[in-house]
Amino acid sequence: MPAELIKGAEVAKLIREELKTEVDELRDKHGITPALVTILVGENPASLSYVTAKNKTAHELGFHSTQDNQPEDISEADLLELVDKYNNDPQIHGILVQLPLPKGIDETKILYAINPDKDVDGFHPVNVGKLMIGTAVFLPCTPAGIQELLIRSGTETSGAEVCVVGRSNIVGKPITNMLLQKAPGANATVTLVHTRTKDVPAHTRAADILIVAAGVPKYVKGDWIKPGAVVIDVGVNRIGKSEKTGKAILAGDVDFDEAMEVASKITPVPGGVGPMTITMLMKNTVKAAKLGAGLL
Ligand code: GUN
Repeated sequence: MPAELIKGAEVAKLIREELKTEVDELRDKHGITPALVTILVGENPASLSYVTAKNKTAHELGFHSTQDNQPEDISEADLLELVDKYNNDPQIHGILVQLPLPKGIDETKILYAINPDKDVDGFHPVNVGKLMIGTAVFLPCTPAGIQELLIRSGTETSGAEVCVVGRSNIVGKPITNMLLQKAPGANATVTLVHTRTKDVPAHTRAADILIVAAGVPKYVKGDWIKPGAVVIDVGVNRIGKSEKTGKAILAGDVDFDEAMEVASKITPVPGGVGPMTITMLMKNTVKAAKLGAGLL
């Protein structure tokens, strides 16, 4: 039987409806409207499309949302100054600096500069540390979306063997830490494999839940997957352009057709993890607005 699809786009829509109620209540009871600023440096087309989608969703939820575009050649000092301006602006609750940043700008330095209470990406070292000890307010958006998909698809994580492919700071490392916590939607035994792992398929084949964020199109083959496993594909790779529409053709990090024959459940690309990432950013922005008003 082919795998069941975990439709992130539908789950995301549901969570956004829940959030809308929360936003209406914040406005009506407390006079607060969540406000997000996204900073985009340069013109990387993928980054531009992500940031545009984030702002569009924020507007749909009734947030104040600003997209601050900066030139590719902005200096590190000027970017730090810009972050500081938003840190000190009481009208702004959440600050997001889209990554990657151009060469010559130290990403870590910029992430350190964001006020941890406005760090809706959850990338500031203070928030990374809180995540590690299980006290995070802001969970990074893609891992938070993955955990939500596991919970809402009825996937048991407690005691499960989880294999995470890829050790990025944005996905691999945080989702590993989140799923090993003593907490609902976690309590898993987690193995993280990466480019220096000796035998990647040996680990993926042992996993009840396989989370792939490798950045390589169709990297995971059908015979790397344990029959009946739940597969979460985080990859978004542009593998071509449609001649008809001019739109990018996307592929995940998992060979979808092969995986469909082996897995019990799988996230599609697009329409799987991607929409969840943006939704979790919205959730974090609402939290930031509450935090700023002393409501959290
Ligand atoms: N680049 C890729 N994913 C992300 C993300 O979740 N947040 C930011 N700021 N940049 C990214």
